[in-house]
Amino acid sequence: MPPSSHLGSSRDYLSESSSYCFKTRGINLCNQVKGKAMGKCPEDGWDESTLELFLHELAIMDSNNFLGNCGVGEREGRVASALVARRHYRFIHGIGRSGDISAVQPKAAGSSLLNKITNSLVLDIIKLAGVHTVSNCFVVPMATGMSLTLCFLTLRHKRPKAKYIIWPRIDQKSCFKSMITAGFEPVVIENVLEGDELRTDLKAVEAKVQELGPDYVLCVHSTTSCFAPRVPDRVEELAVICANYDIPHIVNNAYGVQSSKCMHLIQQGARVGRIDAFVQSLDKNFMVPVGGAIIAGFNDSFIQEISKMYPGRASASPSLDVLITLLSLGSNGYKKLLKERKEMFSYLSNQLKKLSEAYNERLLRTPHNPISLAVTLKTLDEHREKAVTQLGSMLFTRQVSGARVVPLGSVQTVSGYTFRGFMSHTDNYPCAYLNAASAIGMKTQDVDLFIKRLDKCLKTIRKEQNRESDVSGIDSYDKTEDVDNEEMALKLDNVLLDTYQAAAS
Ligand SMILES: Cc1ncc(COP(=O)(O)O)c(C=O)c1O
Repeated sequence: MPPSSHLGSSRDYLSESSSYCFKTRGINLCNQVKGKAMGKCPEDGWDESTLELFLHELAIMDSNNFLGNCGVGEREGRVASALVARRHYRFIHGIGRSGDISAVQPKAAGSSLLNKITNSLVLDIIKLAGVHTVSNCFVVPMATGMSLTLCFLTLRHKRPKAKYIIWPRIDQKSCFKSMITAGFEPVVIENVLEGDELRTDLKAVEAKVQELGPDYVLCVHSTTSCFAPRVPDRVEELAVICANYDIPHIVNNAYGVQSSKCMHLIQQGARVGRIDAFVQSLDKNFMVPVGGAIIAGFNDSFIQEISKMYPGRASASPSLDVLITLLSLGSNGYKKLLKERKEMFSYLSNQLKKLSEAYNERLLRTPHNPISLAVTLKTLDEHREKAVTQLGSMLFTRQVSGARVVPLGSVQTVSGYTFRGFMSHTDNYPCAYLNAASAIGMKTQDVDLFIKRLDKCLKTIRKEQNRESDVSGIDSYDKTEDVDNEEMALKLDNVLLDTYQAAAS
């Protein structure tokens, strides 16, 4: 039994070692009551002092923080630096036990509770965000790619003949490598162009399942959130194919929790067909540092199997970060962020539309993509081959991060597989383009600054192009403008072009 609290709050230890109630300042957070899981995210966020009180209370339940504790094992939560200890709120033991990341660790009751409470709060938020029938989830201290790998490795034991993963193409290296690392052969299904959008080729998916034989297919690996003009996969239809052929279905929902449309796709897919697990990034959806993901699903025992596949213990940091974040936001705070993101998407979309038209470009029509937008760079590309990548480097040097230019015809080999038209999710997209996304936490000021800087960059490139095409080199060039500074910047951009391309790949 851990020592009693000196913090003035009342605690109520229930019979199970993982049961816990935190009651103070009118707040009541219980992860279990009489064996029944509670652990809902509070509606209103907690203030910092309440949160710290709560964390300290949990931390003193870990043996490394017991007064008079004497550890004689090889892992006793000893930390040399007080700064490091404070950075982790003195949760040093991590989560899980050898063999199960969700297991309770007797000498770290506080860390174990932290893990349990975090998982139940995250489950509550996934429901609130639109997947109402999700039954289980856990935070895993690996980013999305590795978490997908863990799902594939779990399926390996269930499908001993399987060699292939059917994957509607998305040009993002970690998604592709997640399958390679798990030891499977990705079978790339090219997308089909419908209007401006790139969409799932369902016929090709089904034909591939029949050609390879369902037993030889480990799973279908679909994607929701992605860069426009690709749009989220037809998850519902894929789920039906998976159910019909008895093939597992893993959904990469990397930054989809923030979009009700992506979450709706998953909910519907599970209702009409088969979804075994869906994976989402912690940093991309909950505004915490990179390092964690959530693996969720509709079948309790399959999600437990995945958590048991994780060998050994794990860092508690991603769980701690998301716990602090959710408790400080409350479910109302998170809902507000979701609402603001949606509004910001409309704002960004309108601003990009106006700007692109001013430059004889256009915002691609991608109504099925709720997060990412794309603007053509046709006039830039037609004029000079390098202008598109130059725009990318100019934005980068002007401190615009996250925007991404996609030139035509780039070829990339990832783990031995060569992708033509890499970054554009298809071999031959009709034009080069620029991407920008409205992601959780984005503010009006971000959009305004981005539009202003993009406008400046486009103006500069246009000027340079006019100069190049002007044979006399004098008439169309207005020397009274602030040319010197722009030229200097342009030179710097050219120098940095290679650096940018390397960073973007
Ligand atoms: C669609 C998609 N899937 C997977 C990933 C990989 O995520 P992580 O870096 O968390 O492994 C990303 C990252 O950008 C992504 O956009």
